[in-house]
Amino acid sequence: MVQTMYTLCMRRPLICANWKMHLPPAGWDAKDSPYRPEAGIDVVVFPPHGYIKHCIDAKLTVGGQCARPETAGAFTGDMSMAMLKELGCTYVLCGHSERRKYHSETDDFAAEQVIAALEAGLHPIVCVGEQKKDRDIGKAEHIVEQQLSLLKNYHQSITIAYEPIWAIGTGLNALPDDAQEVHAFMRRLLLEDIRTSVRIIYGGSVTGMNAKDFLSHPDIDGLLVGSCSLEPKHFHEIINAANTLS
Ligand code: 13P
Repeated sequence: MVQTMYTLCMRRPLICANWKMHLPPAGWDAKDSPYRPEAGIDVVVFPPHGYIKHCIDAKLTVGGQCARPETAGAFTGDMSMAMLKELGCTYVLCGHSERRKYHSETDDFAAEQVIAALEAGLHPIVCVGEQKKDRDIGKAEHIVEQQLSLLKNYHQSITIAYEPIWAIGTGLNALPDDAQEVHAFMRRLLLEDIRTSVRIIYGGSVTGMNAKDFLSHPDIDGLLVGSCSLEPKHFHEIINAANTLS
C-alpha cells in the first residue's frame, strides 16, 4: 500500500556525477556524452571548482562540490554559495563525508551550508551516512536521524543523499535492500505533506552493474556516483539503467 503510494508520486530520478578532485573524463563534453541532461531524468555533474565554468559553457547541469555558508570573508581557497550560483551552478553538495573527514566539517556546518545555499538560490544535496562501526552495532538509522534532525525546517527544500561512509570508494556498496530500508526510514522522518516529494538518493560504490538494482527500490530516487562517474562507459550504463526505469 505504502509502496504503491510512493510509486505513484513520480519523483524524477536524479543521477549525479561527483568527479571529486579529478580531471573531467575524456569526452565529457561530446555531443553524446552521458553527462548531458536527459529528457526523463536529472543528470548533474559536480566538477572540481576550476572546471565548473567549462561544464556550464558546455551546457551541462552543474553543482558545486562544496561552498562555505558565509557570503564573503578571509577564507583562503574557499568559495561562497553565491559565487557558485554566479558561475551558473544549480546544485551544491553539503556535508559530504570527505569534507567532514579532511576539512572537519560538522552537521552544524552542513546545516549552515543548506541555509546559505537556499538563500543563494542553489538546491542543496545533503550527504548523510553512518560509519561501519555504527552499522555493525545497529545504529545506522540513529546516525542518519541525528544528521537530518538539524535540518527539519528545510527538508522540503533539499535532496538527501544516503552515503554510508564504509561504502564510499571501497567497492563495497550497501546491499540495495539495506539501502532501501534506510531510505524508507528517512522518508518516514519527513512530515507527511512532503513525504512523497523529497528525493532521497544513494551513493557509495555505485556501478553500471548495480545501478538498476538500487533504482528499482521504491525509496531510492537516484544515485550519487563517484569513481564510476569518471568512466563515461560505466556512467552511460548508469544513465541507461535510470532511463529504463523512469
Ligand atoms: P564512490 O562511487 O567512488 O564510492 O563515491 C561515492 C561518493 O562519494 C559520491 O559522492
